[in-house]
Amino acid sequence: MAKVNIKIEGISYEVEAGLTILEAAKACGYEIPSLCAFNHGECSNGSCRVCLVEATGARGLVASCVYPVAEGMEIRIGSPAAVEARRASVELLLSNHNINCQQCDKNGQCELLHVAHLVGARENRFVGAKTPVSIDELTPSIVRDTSKCILCGRCIARCQNAHGLGILGFENRGFRTIVSPAENRSMANSPCILCGQCVSVCPTGALMEKSEIGKVDAAFKAGKHVVVQTAPAVRAALGEEFGMPVGTPVTGKMVAALRRLGFAKVYDTNFAADLTIMEEGTELLNRIKNNGVLPMITSCSPGWINYAEYNYGDLLDHLSSCKSPHQMQGAILKSYYAEQKGIDPKDIFVVSIMPCTAKKDEKEREQLKVNGLPDVDAVLTTRELARMIKRAGIMFTRLPDEEFDADIMGDYTGAGVIFGVTGGVMEAALRTVYFVLTGEEHGAIKFEAVRGFDGIREASLDINGMTVNVAIAHGMKNAKVLLDEIREGKSKYHFIEVMGCPGGCIAGGGQPIIRSCFLPNEDDDILDTYKEKRAQALYSEDERQTLRQSHKNPQVKALYDEFLGEPNSHKAHELLHTTYKAREGFND
Ligand code: SF4
Ligand code: SF4
Ligand code: SF4
Ligand code: FES
Repeated sequence: MAKVNIKIEGISYEVEAGLTILEAAKACGYEIPSLCAFNHGECSNGSCRVCLVEATGARGLVASCVYPVAEGMEIRIGSPAAVEARRASVELLLSNHNINCQQCDKNGQCELLHVAHLVGARENRFVGAKTPVSIDELTPSIVRDTSKCILCGRCIARCQNAHGLGILGFENRGFRTIVSPAENRSMANSPCILCGQCVSVCPTGALMEKSEIGKVDAAFKAGKHVVVQTAPAVRAALGEEFGMPVGTPVTGKMVAALRRLGFAKVYDTNFAADLTIMEEGTELLNRIKNNGVLPMITSCSPGWINYAEYNYGDLLDHLSSCKSPHQMQGAILKSYYAEQKGIDPKDIFVVSIMPCTAKKDEKEREQLKVNGLPDVDAVLTTRELARMIKRAGIMFTRLPDEEFDADIMGDYTGAGVIFGVTGGVMEAALRTVYFVLTGEEHGAIKFEAVRGFDGIREASLDINGMTVNVAIAHGMKNAKVLLDEIREGKSKYHFIEVMGCPGGCIAGGGQPIIRSCFLPNEDDDILDTYKEKRAQALYSEDERQTLRQSHKNPQVKALYDEFLGEPNSHKAHELLHTTYKAREGFND
């Protein structure tokens, strides 16, 4: 890698050639305020002007996020002109901002406030007209508030880069510019898959998950039997909200916190992940044996399901009919669990803690209801759980490690844990599919070929002379490649795993915000660094488990023996399977 010599505030540094001034300064430990720049060029349109610096060879001040370093360049971050210009830029942004931090869920993690603090923006020098408040809260997942938008464009870039979707864009001109789906529609009337990737990169409260903390409070108040379940990816990231290093697994502390918040039972969705593998593995076996529709595609990611319904209505019979694991767990809680505990299902309130905003929308689907009751009553993101813990004054880092409740659905295997990372569902399936197809153990536990973050990965498994071909895709841009192959009749696969978010649930749209401007010395690519560390937290938990194959989960076996009969039985179908419907993207 070629190097160049630069000076920042008179101090000499050798940095990589080709970096922007902002990147080079970050690499040397400086924090230049920034807002529209994100993740090494993923978004870098030079629009917010909060990163202005002086640099030799440039005329006037330059936006450090787009201006490259050059040999011999001398950079002044702290010159009076640069300091004043950055302050004016932030004050201009604030002059058109609906500042009501007390009511804003972004308070505490707002990059705009952080930058205002850095540049010393204290006064309202530019008083004038403001963008009118217009709040889009028609989806169950996301709230969009244009009065808090600083037009940085990060959300637009994220949606395009993650999915190739381009749901959000700049609408109108000049002072009336807003960020919105086409023709100022609501996100509910667009083919938005509600994944929340845009939410997770928004530096302000302009895009937020729709909070359901109030619903949970109300259920406690009403004296409901409030049961909570947590998805695997949550434990890999929750610690970040409490200052713990990225990738710290916090399973025991998370359970302890949930108990202290008052939940009657604390269960792990991993139990239902094991159940999913039993149902999905059997469904695959039946499709292979009976010349059913292949390849079969996983169905646990609701963002992906939304994408398929909007864009590939002709391929919906390729989707596994299995509900996602938290919905399965909810259905079992309101049937088998209710029966065992002698509680009326109507009095059970199921809360799912998920890394995902699309799960909020998923739980509302009519076709997931059993006897008119939803499987799950409220979905909280990892961020919302952190807010509840902070609100309750719980000292998270000092909590002891506690175990999930062990009755009825307390057992889980390592296969369930890795559901949270791209390739994890496939790896869990491979650990069991051989057994389901042959009645014998394959022996292998770790399937290296399906791990990693390449957009599309593939592997083959020899089962009694039959080659089973599998593939994995994450992010809709990658899924599209495999789906187009199926449409053209060219797919060689039997089984495909698709997850909506790039990286899988560990990098889901409900996970702790990756605050780019707070990370002056982050490694090469902020998003990938986070993903790798969070994934490692799950792989290490898998390795610690005594049981690592779903079909060995004793409580899943008991559930079949005592209640469901066998995988894909009539009762299992009633409770654990669903249907899909092709949908129009623009429907207003
Ligand atoms: S986005 Fe930030 S500055 Fe704006 S109201 Fe929310 S917390 Fe306050
Ligand atoms: S929720 Fe996902 S699909 Fe919808 S606008 Fe955001 S990134 Fe795009
Ligand atoms: S909604 Fe958020 S990410 Fe998108 S442009 Fe506005 S402030 Fe930036
Ligand atoms: S112009 Fe550089 S961060 Fe926005």
